[in-house]
Amino acid sequence: MGSISRREFVRLGAGAVSAAAAAKSIVLEPGGLAAQTTGTQKKIRFVSIGTGIRGCDLLRSAKKLPNGACVGTADLYDMHRKASVEAWGAEIPTTSDYRELLDRKDVDAVIVAVADFQHRRVVLDCVAAGKDVYCEKPMSHNVADGFAMVKAVQDGKRIFQAGSQRVSNTIYKKAAEIYKSGRLGEVTFIDAYTDRNSPSGAWMYPVAPDANAKTVDWTRWLRDAPDRPFDPERFFRWRCFSDYGEGVAGDLYVHLLSGIQRATGINAIPSRAYSTGGLTHFKDGRDFPDLLATLYDYPGVKVDVHCNQNNAAGEAVVFYGKEATMTINGNTLTVVPQDTRPQPEGYSLNGWTAESKKKYLDDWRAAHPEPAAPLPLTESFSAPQGYDDTAEHIATFFRAVETREHVVEDEVFGNNTAIACHMANHSYFHKNVAVWDEATQTIKG
Ligand SMILES: NC(=O)c1ccc[n+]([C@@H]2O[C@H](COP(=O)([O-])OP(=O)(O)OC[C@H]3O[C@@H](n4cnc5c(N)ncnc54)[C@H](O)[C@@H]3O)[C@@H](O)[C@H]2O)c1
Repeated sequence: MGSISRREFVRLGAGAVSAAAAAKSIVLEPGGLAAQTTGTQKKIRFVSIGTGIRGCDLLRSAKKLPNGACVGTADLYDMHRKASVEAWGAEIPTTSDYRELLDRKDVDAVIVAVADFQHRRVVLDCVAAGKDVYCEKPMSHNVADGFAMVKAVQDGKRIFQAGSQRVSNTIYKKAAEIYKSGRLGEVTFIDAYTDRNSPSGAWMYPVAPDANAKTVDWTRWLRDAPDRPFDPERFFRWRCFSDYGEGVAGDLYVHLLSGIQRATGINAIPSRAYSTGGLTHFKDGRDFPDLLATLYDYPGVKVDVHCNQNNAAGEAVVFYGKEATMTINGNTLTVVPQDTRPQPEGYSLNGWTAESKKKYLDDWRAAHPEPAAPLPLTESFSAPQGYDDTAEHIATFFRAVETREHVVEDEVFGNNTAIACHMANHSYFHKNVAVWDEATQTIKG
């Protein structure tokens, strides 16, 4: 408060600042999931292609929904096929050749959870077979793959949803409402990070002892990447290698950026991205840095994203507005209003004489005779306990398969997010600002 005493400050009517300490806490309803469980929808018959870590998690989440029936799975690794049956919890046919599933007329939709570099081929095959597709994030392995998928989906008039579950998360739905309401004032800067500090967080996944050239169809797995002998480390830790994944950008930025797109309604490719970072700890032959920080120019707002695999700060997305700050931390959203009510000057009066100061304050009071309105409360919203946003996201997809209505995270949205991830890597590896060139639909710089 500079040189103004507390008594003076309260008398001036700004004492309602203490209201900022008060807070309102609300538990949100699940979003589409609720509608999903009360409707009389038809049962969506789906198959899953790629039933490793994520494919099995998706099956466990889909199992919670009343209107989805898994009728088959495909994987190139024996154990992952068996794991898919366990994950679904009931006998289902499994195969190593996913085309057998796509040939079936009783299949409405496909959940695709193969490694990133395999998305394009599998999605194009699904669309050619007339199936709707839920494809895991990041939608593409590179810019060309993304546009090929957009074209195929649009030409084939398919429902497509990219698999960044935050887009259906009830917390992000609330964030979008708040953002749109203008309560935050003008938002000029958004800051987001995912930091985790463990070997698993840096993808040093164990190699299963039974994985070998007999139990994994390595030739087919490697079909769209440079040839090499069977390498179990690459099979399990593909995220570390640029032939198959996109490092922290494709693995983690994609969640932050899709969440930001959802909350702000900005469905666009950033015009520029500048990255820095380095590989400081996990020097195991990987291609990607374990620290990456990127500054993006999005329309109307600057976005700062980083992922550090050497610190356990967790995850947060912070929207800095002129009137309030909105923070999403896991399944909790908090809006802290800022005190932008007129205040008498404090600090800069330190060099004034008592007489000048008194005159200034008297004049200020005369110009502001009404007591200031109280500050809005700090509000916090949380998802219900045990909330599963992956189930929510699959519910969004199933609903769209039935209604034929577009989903928010459609092929264009998913492609935009993936391109922002590719721009982050482009900038890092080229040591330059990555610029999106809309005319040629390529990254320059
Ligand atoms: N949304 C999320 O939170 C989330 C979390 C983890 C992973 N993912 C994404 O899910 C995808 C899979 O990741 P993962 O961790 O499960 O990888 P994973 O390596 O554990 O599983 C991928 C599986 O796909 C199989 N596969 C590859 N090509 C195939 C083909 N032609 N036919 C049949 N099966 C094939 C592999 O054999 C493997 O079992 C990736 O795109 C990843 O980015 C998303």
